[in-house]
Amino acid sequence: MSYAVTLIPGDGIGPEVAQATVRAVAATGVGIDWQMAELSADIILRAGEVIPSHVVQSLSATKVALKGPVTTPVAGGFPSVNVALRKRFDLYANVRPVRAMPGVKTRYADVPIDMIIFRENTEDVYSGLEHEVVVDVVESLKIITRRASVRIARAAFRRALRGRRKVTAVHKANIMKLSDGLFLRCCREVAAEHPSIKYEELIVDNAAMQLVMRPETFDVLLLPNLYGDIVSDLAAGLVGGLGLAPGANLGDEFAVFEAVHGSAPDIAGRGLANPTALMLSAVLMLDHLGEPDAAMRLRNAIEAVYREGKPRTSDVGGSASTSEYTSAVIDSLAAPART
Ligand code: NAI
Repeated sequence: MSYAVTLIPGDGIGPEVAQATVRAVAATGVGIDWQMAELSADIILRAGEVIPSHVVQSLSATKVALKGPVTTPVAGGFPSVNVALRKRFDLYANVRPVRAMPGVKTRYADVPIDMIIFRENTEDVYSGLEHEVVVDVVESLKIITRRASVRIARAAFRRALRGRRKVTAVHKANIMKLSDGLFLRCCREVAAEHPSIKYEELIVDNAAMQLVMRPETFDVLLLPNLYGDIVSDLAAGLVGGLGLAPGANLGDEFAVFEAVHGSAPDIAGRGLANPTALMLSAVLMLDHLGEPDAAMRLRNAIEAVYREGKPRTSDVGGSASTSEYTSAVIDSLAAPART
């Protein structure tokens, strides 16, 4: 049996971490029929559309993708393909587990960090709905709807019911009383449907401070899109950086698995990228495909490489190349199970 999965390597370090992840997934023994869908800033410019049709066709057919990062130009140029993909396929839940990796030195060595971020993925100011009203005056629209807020809250609480104890909604409803106020009201309504899960609220600036001071007190975080984007990178920094932070964009019909990080142009093409974040995204993908055993084996293999001080990339204190680290993960997968 093999699964058809769209592979979007992306650009920058994307192709490097995607190739590494394909190797690691192959070593689990799960058959994946990868359907290549190239996507990069250049391809978008040539196609003249943010999501070129070959990507739409492939994902429409497979319903599941593993995706590397795609560069979005800053302060001009074409709109984000990532935002467009999430909207086009209604991938409304951006789910990002944040866990300390055994053996990776961080500022929080003895702190048991283990949280899951649920970031609303389709609206908020992150949609990039902006226009110049008159010269030098720009308006950016923050759209928050009951529908999107309720469904991300439901997704977070559904996950919390499986072994988690608390959901923290993060907002700025003291200032954005209507938009974040609506988001918060929806979170409260969904919380009331789940009395077994503790529910709390934090204003986003306070949440940022608490995350740095007491990261171990967080469990499931529930955020609108922009705060979720920022808090995700902060949280990745707590556990060793973007090279280790996986993610999933989930809807009711489609799922796109991608790391939190971007295309890292500063290290692209040099064999330095850490593919762990995309490999851990593939762990989430294997679970989604109904291969929990392979998912667990790949996760264990990655953790063993870190725990046992085997080759690691420079972002986490090593000197291994992307390929050397990947080989270590594959060797670890092949090693007899440790007790
Ligand atoms: P970035 O995440 O690409 O890089 C930030 C820093 O983290 C850099 O120093 C980079 O070298 C390092 N880093 C990131 N991933 C790494 C990895 N796997 N291994 C080792 N080091 C890693 O963020 P930046 O520079 O703000 O964005 C670059 C481009 O990526 C932008 O065009 C942005 O729009 C795009 N982007 C795309 C995303 C996606 O496709 N999902 C997500 C975030 C950014």
